[in-house]
Amino acid sequence: MRSLISILDLSVEELDELIATAKDIIARPEAYRESCRYKKLATLFFEPSTRTRLSFEAAMLELGGSVLGFSEASSSSAAKGESMADTAKIVSCYADIMAIRHPKDGAPYVAARNASVPVINAGDGQHNHPTQTLADLLTISREMGRLSNLTIGLCGDLKYGRTVHSLIEAMSRYEGVKFVLISPAELKLPGFVRYNVLEKLGIPYTEVTSLDDAMGQLDVLYMTRVQRERFDDPAVYERLKDSYILTKEKMELAKENMCVLHPLPRVNEISVAVDDDPRAAYFRQALNGKFMRMALILKLLKEAEENPRREKVEDGGWRHDLRCPNSRCICHTEQELPPAFRLTDREAGIWRCVYCEQVGVE
Ligand code: CP
Repeated sequence: MRSLISILDLSVEELDELIATAKDIIARPEAYRESCRYKKLATLFFEPSTRTRLSFEAAMLELGGSVLGFSEASSSSAAKGESMADTAKIVSCYADIMAIRHPKDGAPYVAARNASVPVINAGDGQHNHPTQTLADLLTISREMGRLSNLTIGLCGDLKYGRTVHSLIEAMSRYEGVKFVLISPAELKLPGFVRYNVLEKLGIPYTEVTSLDDAMGQLDVLYMTRVQRERFDDPAVYERLKDSYILTKEKMELAKENMCVLHPLPRVNEISVAVDDDPRAAYFRQALNGKFMRMALILKLLKEAEENPRREKVEDGGWRHDLRCPNSRCICHTEQELPPAFRLTDREAGIWRCVYCEQVGVE
């Protein structure tokens, strides 16, 4: 049995297989209508969501299964202090698979280590959002006809934007992909993606502050929201929130076949006037999310049926004597969760928290 916590849990072959399944679901939906009959999906959403929760639920219903769950932490026993580990054990009694969104980085990983059914990370804090990436990959594949040899611009909040982190991790494994990272200095890409992925794999990337200057070279523009909920200081949010606004005028600087993606929700970073541009793919992207989640549910349930045992965690070389500096990491709030760090760069001696991937400190 496998869970999906990071997009790196899936090989490129598996990503391609999920995309192929999603395309087959689009072509022949009737063939999948009974695929998950008598199966139940639990959606545990400790943080707000429209697309992810509803597309997961629509996905399971269209596969012939059922859904149960909650859409806010206050209506679950987390409000009484129940841990993530206990919640995962309990929900495993009632559902065959669960999707978890949580404000703490690493919470779905803790759930997966305690659940006896597959766990899907539906977005953890400022860390990862692998099923959004599945939606993004299908969208790029359908809009551009390929996932290789692309210049991808990522614009806005690259620091806290979990969709950006997972998308870079996925696209870095396709040939000929280059990134243009467009952000204010305060919202640059964090080290766990920059060093663990881009630098380690030698992926070409540039960092710029001007969207206008970057537009002409992009095949894909991935816009993101500056997320009010991730800022400790409201004044910093106010200063940065309008850093980039994509307008019709800016779209004139872009290639004729560039596509614009956005995980949504948007606030004002894409003008509504852009929506009618045929290159604006963000609403099609939201629909693609449902098809990829259907493909993922099918795959994880099939694997769980074939092998119901939870995958063993290889924790032999971990250190437990460091401290995680990330106040939003699940390790600081989960009951009796020992700190744990794995070596990610032997030469530089970098140990990263297994839950949130921040560098551990003495
Ligand atoms: N893209 C995304 O995660 O949207 P929701 O927050 O509405 O689920």
